[in-house]
Amino acid sequence: MAPKARLFLFSLAIYVALLSGSNISAASARTIPHLHASKSSSSASDDACVCDASRFQELGLEMKEFAYCDASLSYEVRVKDLVDRMTLEEKARQLGDTATGVERIGLPKYEWWSEALHGVSNTGQPGSLGSFFDDEIPGATSFPTVILTAATFNESLWKTIGQVVSTEARAMHNLGHAGLTFWSPNINVARDPRWGRTQETPGEDPLVAGKYATNYVRGLQDVEGSDLTTNLNSRPLKVAACCKHYAAYDIESWLGSNRFHFDSKVTEQDMRETFLSPFEMCVKDGDVTSVMCSFNRINGIPICADPQLLKNTIRGEWDLHGYIVSDCDSLEVMVDGHKWLGDTPEDAVAQALKAGMDLDCGYKIGSFYGNYAASAVAQGKVREAEVDKALKNLYTVLMRLGYFDGSPQFQSLGKADVCSEEHIELAAEAARQGIVLLKNENETLPLNSGEIKTIAVVGPHANATKVMIGNYAGVPCRYVSPIDGFSAFGKVEYERGCADVACKNESLIFPAMRAAKKADATVIVVGLDLSVEAEGSDRVDLLLPGYQTQLIKQVASVSRGPVILVVMSGGPVDISFANNNPKIGAVLWAGYPGEEGGRAIADVVLGKCNPGGRLPLTWYGADYVDMLPMTSMLLRPIDSLGYPGRTYKFFNGSTIYPFGYGLSYTQFNYTLKSSQRSLDIKLHKLQHCHDVNYNASAYKPRCPAVLIDDLKCDDNIEFEVEVKNVGRRDGSDVVMVYKVPAEGIVGAPTKELIAFQRVFVAAGESEAVKFVVNACKSLGIVDYAAYHLLPAGRHTIVIGDGAVSFPVSINFKQ
Ligand SMILES: *[C@@H]1O[C@H](CO)[C@@H](O)[C@H](O)[C@H]1NC(C)=O
Ligand SMILES: *[C@@H]1O[C@H](CO)[C@@H](O)[C@H](O)[C@H]1NC(C)=O
Ligand SMILES: *[C@@H]1O[C@H](CO)[C@@H](O)[C@H](O)[C@H]1NC(C)=O
Ligand SMILES: *[C@@H]1O[C@H](CO)[C@@H](O)[C@H](O)[C@H]1NC(C)=O
Ligand SMILES: *[C@@H]1O[C@H](CO)[C@@H](O)[C@H](O)[C@H]1NC(C)=O
Ligand SMILES: *[C@@H]1O[C@H](CO)[C@@H](O)[C@H](O)[C@H]1NC(C)=O
Repeated sequence: MAPKARLFLFSLAIYVALLSGSNISAASARTIPHLHASKSSSSASDDACVCDASRFQELGLEMKEFAYCDASLSYEVRVKDLVDRMTLEEKARQLGDTATGVERIGLPKYEWWSEALHGVSNTGQPGSLGSFFDDEIPGATSFPTVILTAATFNESLWKTIGQVVSTEARAMHNLGHAGLTFWSPNINVARDPRWGRTQETPGEDPLVAGKYATNYVRGLQDVEGSDLTTNLNSRPLKVAACCKHYAAYDIESWLGSNRFHFDSKVTEQDMRETFLSPFEMCVKDGDVTSVMCSFNRINGIPICADPQLLKNTIRGEWDLHGYIVSDCDSLEVMVDGHKWLGDTPEDAVAQALKAGMDLDCGYKIGSFYGNYAASAVAQGKVREAEVDKALKNLYTVLMRLGYFDGSPQFQSLGKADVCSEEHIELAAEAARQGIVLLKNENETLPLNSGEIKTIAVVGPHANATKVMIGNYAGVPCRYVSPIDGFSAFGKVEYERGCADVACKNESLIFPAMRAAKKADATVIVVGLDLSVEAEGSDRVDLLLPGYQTQLIKQVASVSRGPVILVVMSGGPVDISFANNNPKIGAVLWAGYPGEEGGRAIADVVLGKCNPGGRLPLTWYGADYVDMLPMTSMLLRPIDSLGYPGRTYKFFNGSTIYPFGYGLSYTQFNYTLKSSQRSLDIKLHKLQHCHDVNYNASAYKPRCPAVLIDDLKCDDNIEFEVEVKNVGRRDGSDVVMVYKVPAEGIVGAPTKELIAFQRVFVAAGESEAVKFVVNACKSLGIVDYAAYHLLPAGRHTIVIGDGAVSFPVSINFKQ
């Protein structure tokens, strides 16, 4: 017991220091290992930018002779000068993630691959020039995994996290520990609850995914004051982000299907409405500088070789200012996995270049572009001009990043800006805001900290550390595990209850029961980890592994005090047994809560904060996975096969918890203060009525719809909701706004999220929350033919779970 006791005292010290809210003094900071908030500012690097006269001199070159270094010229002219100086072979070698550079003309090596999904990570090319940690920079702030951050439904938080991550990234770059191009975020819609990478994503709703992408990308990329720059080809960048994996990618490895061979059979309706929608928002609203094409095929065609999806859509329709990169080894997968058109490597390279893929990440055997682009040109399969075009896209991004000319505004960032106290606090705050209260019978929570002296903290995740940072994590500043977190509030009795997450036998359950019998309260921390859901592996069921359920039931049955169940997972878990168990008073979902996760969980349980997170996923019952294979891509139910629909928009069965669910320690009441009820749109003679499929029994308006492309779409619908906190505690509420399309439209979603806003309301007070939604964006539908239509008729706007709703009628007048 001695080591344990020491641990508790020690974590208490950390915790008190952080809670105090004041600056950690130099002395206390030194007592905290892994907290690298050293104030000794070793800031700007000696690493010069590319266009540095002394660098050229060392290479025996005269910088003046290289127009690409002439800052008085436009990026366009400079980039062309740079590319024109290279031989074909040299050009090819710059098209892989590890660009070799061309010493002859003063161009250094560059590693394009760094990751920053929820903090700067070292995931990427092993031992590369990308991001890495060592004694100088031992860690970076590790935020909750995205699925939990999404659950905050707090757009400003999403952006702030992006800003903090890019500050740490820039600081690491200054110290030679990171590149400037980060292949994050992952914004694939989580279509199936079994998907192993759900934890990396903002969940199942395309609007939430798109808003998350926009905010996180703007946080990463935007340089203060430059977000209004009109020339997007020269808009400066803090770091460059990348929205991935484009598109209809959400299968890892499931019963013989895997991402390297999978052909997603999707409809154009689902593409437009669901799979492409977050990417469109990421490019148009976020102005992201990169999109990554995924491994899979869509309706037979490998995405990285599809000019319609890359060149025409991302660059053409959405107007990307940046580059398109392959997922790592996508071209090798095209040749060896998909055996696409019997391709040689040169064929694959030619097809991808022509489709608009600019950069080729090669992981296993190096970049196909690097190795084969020159021979593809020599064999007459692709024009050299396509190579030039790709390079220009790439170098324009590096110009905007200050890679050539330096970035004075970021030069002072250094070691003290990584894992600073403020950043660590934001990681804790994100977890507190995201944690979802799923059950709270008889107001079991919050526990009264005055009455709780001993807390049994049991379960396989009771001492979670690495588990809390999930996928695509680097090295965190430190960990605050659940037992660390709770030890700030009382004496913790810790028992694992299971040897690990797999929990293969019952041998450790008895000691956990013994701890629960004695303690004033019992917290059981269970769930999944990367052995169950991860990149490369999907789940086969929605249950807790092994004997975890048994552990929960037995511990609950003997607990002396109230029992709180905490679930860590990315995807949903069928915990209906816990909902129905009267001994279990409260249930929390904590996603994978990041390096400070244990602190956030304890703060919620003990009432230091009031939970306001909402589920960004439908929590289906375990039988859902027996109803349809993971490989079925359609969102709508398939009656002939008996498949239910996917996501809250199309699934009409019963759930464990619905999308958007989440309780609070207080109650909120909504009152509609004002609303606009109808919109009359006068059509001119070139605006035609478009047909819509209605059920035979339904009323169909005479002019059923108009193509959104034909409308000006400058009509907004405005309404105001008063949110009253009618309970006794301050708290934050997420006001979710759905539309229900006019009754009878065949194939329309049951409902669809059109807006959300998180709002803080003090106990007894009210806040007016105003919404202004664009009529086309919010009331539009995508029909079976993939037209985007504004349907006439009586639609309904529903606030929250339906206590407040009102109709909006659209009428077209010819
Ligand atoms: C909790 O986990 C950490 C990291 O794995 C380990 O060092 C520590 O000993 C564990 N604590 C207890 C009380 O077992
Ligand atoms: C229970 O499982 C653990 C870990 O898997 C193993 O080490 C132990 O031998 C098992 N005990 C019994 C009684 O099977
Ligand atoms: C809640 O209160 C009711 C009525 O007092 C009681 O029957 C039930 O067991 C309580 N549930 C919990 C979880 O404490
Ligand atoms: C759910 O959808 C199916 C297929 O469209 C339909 O047959 C069934 O009646 C619906 N169930 C409910 C509860 O609405
Ligand atoms: C909340 O609103 C409902 C209906 O809108 C009303 O019946 C109820 O009295 C309200 N509760 C409080 C505490 O204001
Ligand atoms: C949203 O997050 C920001 C940043 O942490 C925070 O200041 C704000 O209070 C949050 N909003 C609500 C309503 O919780």
